[in-house]
Amino acid sequence: MKYSVTLLPGDGIGPEVSKAMVRAVDFVTGGRIDWEPVVAGSTAVDQGLSPLPDEAIDSIRRNRIAIKGPLQTPVAGGWRSVNVLLRQSLELFACVRPVRSMPGNTLARYQGVDQIIVRENTEGLYSGREHEVVDGVVEALKIVTRDASRRIMQFAFEYARSHGRKKLTIVHKASITPLSDNLFLDCARECERKYPFFQVEYLPLDNLALDLATDPTRFDMLVMGNLDGDLISDLCAGLVGGLGVVPGANYGEGCAVFEAVHGTAPDIAGRDLANPIALILSAELMLRYVGEADAADHLRAGVERLLVSGESLTRDLGGRANTSELTDALLGELDAVAGEAKGAARRPARGPAHRQPDSAR
Ligand code: NAI
Repeated sequence: MKYSVTLLPGDGIGPEVSKAMVRAVDFVTGGRIDWEPVVAGSTAVDQGLSPLPDEAIDSIRRNRIAIKGPLQTPVAGGWRSVNVLLRQSLELFACVRPVRSMPGNTLARYQGVDQIIVRENTEGLYSGREHEVVDGVVEALKIVTRDASRRIMQFAFEYARSHGRKKLTIVHKASITPLSDNLFLDCARECERKYPFFQVEYLPLDNLALDLATDPTRFDMLVMGNLDGDLISDLCAGLVGGLGVVPGANYGEGCAVFEAVHGTAPDIAGRDLANPIALILSAELMLRYVGEADAADHLRAGVERLLVSGESLTRDLGGRANTSELTDALLGELDAVAGEAKGAARRPARGPAHRQPDSAR
């Protein structure tokens, strides 16, 4: 089946990693995706457009699915974060970031990490409500609502159920913001009662930071508010080899936008140095979302083989290859995976006479 996917190449290293991702996805899907490229962020502003042109939003609304490179937000103002605007406009309320140790990745600080971060994506300190009360006094509002907290908790518990997860860690700082964080926690407790088969723990953010640094393998799923999720995602990426290998997805009702955790990396942009694996693994999540499990498995197997080979890796992974060389090598691995699958399919199935008895397996 053919379908359309909105492609926002993004700013900085975005176009470079997007190009690599498209090559890999076209390979595993046999070119069945119609990419619909649209611009946003500083690329759009440079073309005289708004940071989030209607064309981009309309395209995502039509296709219900998009994959994007990072978008730049000027620190000194200019425009509000296009990422936040996108998530809020499309009600992409749940951000999911699987953080996993990758085979062969010798730069990873820890092995055996396999955790899912679920981040509330629409409110908290990202409400954009900030103002100067009087000269020298600024107020930033952290908005927490029961509706959004219930929605993210329900999503997280259901995600845990459908993905075979066993334990949820709900992160908070209720000692400092008791009203807002206890509202968040109450919604988690409601879900805990509905899903009594899960182990649920409630952990202050500072304790989480310490535990992640000492033993990140003890966590299965982490559920948290918007800002905490942003910070902890980067920290967790650091545990498994850096921002170049951690994918992400933003889910709403019947709409999903996939993107890596990393930003536009202005320090290496335009130099063919960026690691495209995080966006490629985000595409794996996208393929699973649309039910293309075989293509997703194929993509993952290729990435794992590449990492295990230790060849043609970018500098952030300890290698010397550039983005294009890594992508060429990945296509080679994808080809090898396809070749092995074909070989296995051609081999005659072993009949019952050859089957080993259960006791011998
Ligand atoms: P960043 O993630 O762009 O870079 C942090 C460090 O990681 C840099 O040293 C960079 O070279 C390295 N890095 C990041 N991705 C890499 C990759 N794929 N391969 C190799 N190295 C990589 O974070 P920073 O510098 O804080 O943000 C830069 C811009 O990106 C800002 O304008 C920010 O607003 C934006 N941003 C956008 C995001 C998005 O669109 N989802 C997410 C985070 C930041």
